[in-house]
Amino acid sequence: MAAETPSHILIIDDDVAQARLVQRMLTRAGYVVDLAHDGDAGLARCATESYDVLLVDHQMPGKGGLEVLRTLVAQGTYPPTVMLTGHGDEDVAVEAMKLGAGDYIVKDVEGRYLALLPAVLERVLQQQRLIDAKQRAEDALHETLETLERRVQERTAELQRADRLALVGQLASGLAHEIGTPLNIIGGNAELLRMQLQAQQVPTTELDAIIEHVDRITGLVEQLLTFARARPQGMVSLSLYDCTTNVLRLLEARWQREGITVVLALPPALPPVWGAPEQIEQVLLNVLVNAWHAMPQGGSMTITATPMDDTWVRLTCCDSGSGIAPEDLGRIFEPFYSTKGERGTGLGLAICRQIIDNHKGTIRVDSTLGEGTTVTIDLRRADTLKRGPVPQR
Ligand SMILES: Nc1ncnc2c1ncn2[C@@H]1O[C@H](COP(=O)(O)OP(=O)(O)OP(=O)(O)O)[C@@H](O)[C@H]1O
Ligand SMILES: [Mg+2]
Repeated sequence: MAAETPSHILIIDDDVAQARLVQRMLTRAGYVVDLAHDGDAGLARCATESYDVLLVDHQMPGKGGLEVLRTLVAQGTYPPTVMLTGHGDEDVAVEAMKLGAGDYIVKDVEGRYLALLPAVLERVLQQQRLIDAKQRAEDALHETLETLERRVQERTAELQRADRLALVGQLASGLAHEIGTPLNIIGGNAELLRMQLQAQQVPTTELDAIIEHVDRITGLVEQLLTFARARPQGMVSLSLYDCTTNVLRLLEARWQREGITVVLALPPALPPVWGAPEQIEQVLLNVLVNAWHAMPQGGSMTITATPMDDTWVRLTCCDSGSGIAPEDLGRIFEPFYSTKGERGTGLGLAICRQIIDNHKGTIRVDSTLGEGTTVTIDLRRADTLKRGPVPQR
């Protein structure tokens, strides 16, 4: 036999003596053979056991061979079958083949068919092996195609994002020139006027408003520029602990007043990561300010960091704020996507992603509406890599 595990055969035949004879013969040839002495017993066995081939007698009291086949076909599960027919039963053989039987063999009184049986069985088994192999190949091909398609989609999305970012970059440089200079003049002159009016004890409410708004626009232009220039500069081996505490120092006092508690879980022996410290701090600031905005009634901010393996350190910032609706979650990294109206420019997370991408790291946001949001950032370890991993672009 060709198969490594012995093939499992069920003989369904009411002629007990004959069936036993065939069973002995096939067992000697290396098959594992079960017997059923009528159609119903055979069907019951098929329901509980898995067979490689059925050897079914056509003429049996109760359910005959064809009926057994029809029932199995209706159930949608039946293994290759060899039908045992009598002389002159060619119609039965044809019917059996139409039902999907693999082959048939004519029983002769002298028992010569017994000698033919092993070859017929082996051919049917071989046929089935080929069908199985073809199916496996098709499944594998299908899977490969699906993977390819998914990769193409991911890559296309990345390219679209890159396009949009490039556009924002161009826009930013343009804005900086076109708006930045006049803005400086407006702001500078307004400050000057305010100082003069203040010296004369004249109220400066309108000027205050002008200056405040000029500052806001200047901030926006600066943020755009940072975004456009978010390239890794001055990559060093840095301590995430230092970056985090530097940023927290800026927020601490206000957070305390507003009832936001901070849990900091950074192990002292945390490995350093590769990064530009000001940029990593900018990422943290954006993330923490977002968390702050999401907790107007106070809440808790948990920051943890752990080495994942030889390559990565993972930083997570988990807030107990409003959370993000599933329909927004897919868009929060888009430039200018904000749910904060006047208060937000929607560049915070786009900048974060730009910076982290340039560090060859990853940033992910998970969120449950009404429960809170977790930002997960993976950065490359600096102690296990021979040199900085980020090529200058
Ligand atoms: N921790 C968070 N909890 C709830 N929502 C968040 C959180 N972080 C981000 N978001 C959502 O993602 C949107 C985009 O964030 P992003 O930081 O890019 O822009 P922004 O905060 O609106 O504006 P900007 O940061 O430019 O001032 C936010 O408007 C907010 O809806
Ligand atoms: Mg933000």
